[in-house]
Amino acid sequence: MYILAIESSCDDTSCAVMDGNFRVLSNVTASQKVHSEYGGVVPELASRAHQSNIIPVVDKALKDSGVKKEDLTAVAFTRGPGLLGSLLVGVSFAKSFATALNIKMIEVNHLEAHVLAHFIKDTPESKVPDFPMLCLLVSGGNTQIIRLDSPRKMEIIGKTIDDAAGETIDKAAKILSLPYPGGPHIDRLSKQGKPTLKFSQSHIPDLDYSFSGLKTSILYTLRDKLKENPNYIEENLCDIACSVQKAVVDSLLFKFEKAIKATKIKNIAIAGGVSANSALREGISNLGTKYGCEVFIPKFSYTTDNAAMVAAAGLFKYLDGEFADLSLTAYAR
Ligand code: KG4
Repeated sequence: MYILAIESSCDDTSCAVMDGNFRVLSNVTASQKVHSEYGGVVPELASRAHQSNIIPVVDKALKDSGVKKEDLTAVAFTRGPGLLGSLLVGVSFAKSFATALNIKMIEVNHLEAHVLAHFIKDTPESKVPDFPMLCLLVSGGNTQIIRLDSPRKMEIIGKTIDDAAGETIDKAAKILSLPYPGGPHIDRLSKQGKPTLKFSQSHIPDLDYSFSGLKTSILYTLRDKLKENPNYIEENLCDIACSVQKAVVDSLLFKFEKAIKATKIKNIAIAGGVSANSALREGISNLGTKYGCEVFIPKFSYTTDNAAMVAAAGLFKYLDGEFADLSLTAYAR
C-alpha cells in the first residue's frame, strides 16, 4: 500500500509518499522565500505560493517515489492547526485528488504529525520509541509536553500559557536584525558566544511554560544596554544570541525534566522546528543519560514542516480504519 501525504499548514508546501511499513519513498518540500523580506509569514502570500507550488511538488514526490498515482491507496493531509488560507489549498487539493482517484482520505493534525515523525522507518532497522513516551514539541507556534500511551493516545500534560519557544527566539532575532526565521541564526551565532546576559523569567506552576516575561526581559535588557553603548548589539552579537538560546533551552528543559521525574517515562523525544536547535539536542541527550532514558531526536529534515510526518500520522489512522469525508474543511486552531 502507498499513502500520499500533503502538508501546507504554514509556509512550506510538502508532499511525501510512504509505503505500508512507514518507509518514506519521497519527501519533497518547496519553502517560500517570499516572506523573508517581511520578517514573518504573510498569510495571503503563503496561500498564493501554496497554490503555485502544490502541483509541481506532488508531481515531483510521485516521480521520486517511483509510485504511479493509480497505485496510491490513500491521501493524507494536514487539516489543522495552521494558517487557514494555506491549509485550504492542501485540503482542497487532497479532496479533489482522492475523489479523482476514488481512494480514501485521511485528515491529520499537524502537531500530532510532528510527534509521530518518530515512527518513520527510513530503514527497516530504524529504531522507533516504545510506549509510554514523552515528547517535547517545540515549534514557532507551539510549546507542549505530550504523553503518548500509543500512537493514537496522546495527552498534553504541559503547554505554554502565552508565547511559544520558537516565537520567543524569532522575536529576539528580529531585535538583533537577523533574517526570519531567526532560530537557525541564533543557533549558529551562539556557538561563538558566551551566555553573558541573564534575563528574568516568569515561573509558573506545574508543567506549563510562559515565555512572554522572557521576551519582555530580552527587549528591556537590550534597550538598556543600547542606551549605554549604541553599538552594543553589533559588538556582542554572539554573546547575546548565546544568552537568548540558553534562557529558552534552560526553560524548556527545566519543565521537561520535571515531567520525566513525575511520570518516570523512559522514552523521551523532541519534535518540531526548534528541535533542530543544537543546545536543545544536547540538553535532551544529557537528560537521557541522567535518567537512563532512550532518547529520540528527529533527523533535521523531519524537524521543520514536512509531509513525511503527515504520512506517518496518516498511516496510523489508516491502520485503524479512520477516514475523512468530503464534508470536512480546514481548521486554524
Ligand atoms: O515547526 P516549525 O517548522 O514551524 C511551525 O511553527 O509550524 O518551526 C519553526 C520554528 C521557528 O521559530 C524557527 O526559528 C525555529 O523553528 N527553528 C530553530 C532552529 N531551526 C528552526 N530554533 C532554534 N534553533 C534552530 N536551529
